[in-house]
Amino acid sequence: MNNIVLVTGGAGYIGSHTCKRLEKEGYLPVVYDHLSTGHADFVKWGPLEQGDILDSDRLTRVLAKYNPAAVIHFAASAYVGESVSDPSSYYRNNVTGTLSLLQAMRSAEIGNIVFSSSCAVYGISSENTIKEEHPLVPVNPYGRTKSIVEHMLRDFAYAYGIRTVSLRYFNAAGADPDGEIGEHHDPETHLIPLLLDVAAGRVDHVDIYGNDYSSEDGTCVRDYVHVSDLADAHVMAMDKLMSGISSPCYNLGSGQGHTVLQLVRAVERVTGAKVTVRPTPRRVGDPPRLVCDPSRALAELGWKPKHSSLEEMLKHAWLWHRKRFLSP
Ligand code: UFG
Repeated sequence: MNNIVLVTGGAGYIGSHTCKRLEKEGYLPVVYDHLSTGHADFVKWGPLEQGDILDSDRLTRVLAKYNPAAVIHFAASAYVGESVSDPSSYYRNNVTGTLSLLQAMRSAEIGNIVFSSSCAVYGISSENTIKEEHPLVPVNPYGRTKSIVEHMLRDFAYAYGIRTVSLRYFNAAGADPDGEIGEHHDPETHLIPLLLDVAAGRVDHVDIYGNDYSSEDGTCVRDYVHVSDLADAHVMAMDKLMSGISSPCYNLGSGQGHTVLQLVRAVERVTGAKVTVRPTPRRVGDPPRLVCDPSRALAELGWKPKHSSLEEMLKHAWLWHRKRFLSP
């Protein structure tokens, strides 16, 4: 088996951190990305093949050119709010796009795929922490597309013998500890970069989506996990697949829940700036609480989040944010 890994969406936030980790472990990450949301300057650890996952012919040619040992599949549309207002592009990119990739993999006889899934597959939970056995009842189209793809992968595994693993991550946060890459979406809708934008004086306030939830301060609870810890888990899960052991899915999160207002205060502590917020109505499609039980990944992959304390994630995110957006 060779050391080449095709990384769809490898010019994006989590994909690029995974490429850095792959290279460190002796793999050659080949990035397949159409650069509509990804960044060419995030591709530093292997070649870039520009293309759309909906283009199955191009994918087949790229797979034939490199004959990778595995595919890690990040390429997807990933804004929860946008998926509610424009579901069509989510089903197209996430579901049809993955089908196109799987067809190309079958043509090229590539048998291992790690899929970037999400805790959005769970929907609303009354559990304190969520295990993989929790029912999948997503409450937004984004989560539904991820859940459909997970089912599709299991069907392909059964029928065609491909090996698959789905990584359901909670809220990716932070940036590369060396400051080489980080979070940069356009438009930005994610909480942490928006709070840093206010701290940096780039925008004047952040809307808080709902303060009447049943959490301690009324705002939504999420489990934030460092993007470099997620990158580690991808390589560990891929190694396990390539050793012939398939597992359907793993939750990846820190196991700690933080409210939106706790994030605001933590950003103020780390940046030393005052962050102005404005309460607004709930955002459609937001589950009130999503906190991970990561015990399966800890036990079976040997994964251990190393950087996922709130302070460390925000410190790395702030370092990157200033470098990317405030440097002359
Ligand atoms: N939030 C605000 N104001 C904002 C932005 C977000 O109050 O301007 C709140 C949201 O309501 C939510 C929390 O901050 O409670 C985090 O919101 P994000 O938009 O940062 O992240 P989401 O939880 O909506 O979604 C993210 C990723 C998805 C992934 C999901 C898993 O975007 O890809 O985490 O929970 F599936």
